[in-house]
Amino acid sequence: MTGNMNMIETNDLNLWYGDKQTLFDVNMPIKKNCITSIIGPSGCGKSTLIRVFNRMNDLIGGTRMSGTVVYDGKNICGPDTDVLALRKRVGMIFQKANPFPMTIRDNITYGPKLHGMKDQRELDEVVESSLRKAALFDEVKDRLNTSALSLSGGQQQRLCIARALSIGPEVILMDEPTSALDPIATAKIEELALELKKNYTVVAVTHNMQQARRISDYTGFMYMGRLEEFGRTEDVFENPKSELTERYVSGRFG
Ligand SMILES: Nc1ncnc2c1ncn2[C@@H]1O[C@H](COP(=O)(O)OP(=O)(O)O)[C@@H](O)[C@H]1O
Ligand SMILES: [Mg+2]
Repeated sequence: MTGNMNMIETNDLNLWYGDKQTLFDVNMPIKKNCITSIIGPSGCGKSTLIRVFNRMNDLIGGTRMSGTVVYDGKNICGPDTDVLALRKRVGMIFQKANPFPMTIRDNITYGPKLHGMKDQRELDEVVESSLRKAALFDEVKDRLNTSALSLSGGQQQRLCIARALSIGPEVILMDEPTSALDPIATAKIEELALELKKNYTVVAVTHNMQQARRISDYTGFMYMGRLEEFGRTEDVFENPKSELTERYVSGRFG
C-alpha cells in the first residue's frame, strides 16, 4: 500500500443498471485491517456497492460505472483489470451459504487446485489452516470426507469463509452473512469477523444495526444510492452528522 491506510477507496463512483442510476458519487474509504459495515434501507445500493469491490457486477449484463475504485494503488474499474486475479485477492461471502455439493475437504481444495496446487500434503495443510482460520476445524475434523451439505447453516457459512480464505485473499466481502442464521450462529460469525480483521480487511453489508455497532470500526450509511454518512462507527451511531442518519440509526425512519 502506498502512503495511506486505505485498502480500497471509491472516488465519485456512479453505477448504472441500464438507464437506471443506482450509485451516486460514492466516496468511501475502506481501511486496512478494519471491519467496515455498510447499512441502509433495502434497495439503497448496499449490495451493488460491495459488488464493485471485486467486480461482481460484471456478471450482471448492462452495468456501467464512472469514477474510480482504487485498490492497491490501481483503478480496478478499467477494462485492463485482471478480474480473476482481483477476485483471488477480494473474496466474497453471501447471504445464503452456498457450499459446493461435495465433501467438506473438496470445498476447501477446489480453489487451490484450480490455481495449480497439486501436492497432497500442501492441500491437506490448506484444508486444516483454512478451517482453523474460519473457526470450524474442531467441529468437522473427523468428517472432512462427508458432504458439506450435511453441516448446519452456521457451519456452512463458516465453511464458505474457509473456502474464501483457502486462496489467500486480502479482503473479505460479506453481504448480509448472518441474515439467514439464528442468534448463536450469528454470534459465531461476528466473533470470527473480529478475529479475521487482524489479518484481513473486512467489508460487511448488514441490515442489522446492532451488528454493525458490535463489530465494525467504520460504518457507511447508504440512502437511495448515496453514501449519506461515513465515519467511525461510534460517531455514526452516537453523533451522526446528518439528520437522516440520526433518524435511521435511532429507528425513527420514514
Ligand atoms: N441486477 C440488477 N439489475 C437491475 N437493477 C438492479 C439489479 N440489482 C439491483 N438493482 C437495483 O438497484 C437498486 C439497489 O439494489 P441493491 O444494491 O440490491 O440494494 P440493497 O442491497 O441495499 O438492498 C435497487 O433499486 C435494485 O432494484
Ligand atoms: Mg442487498
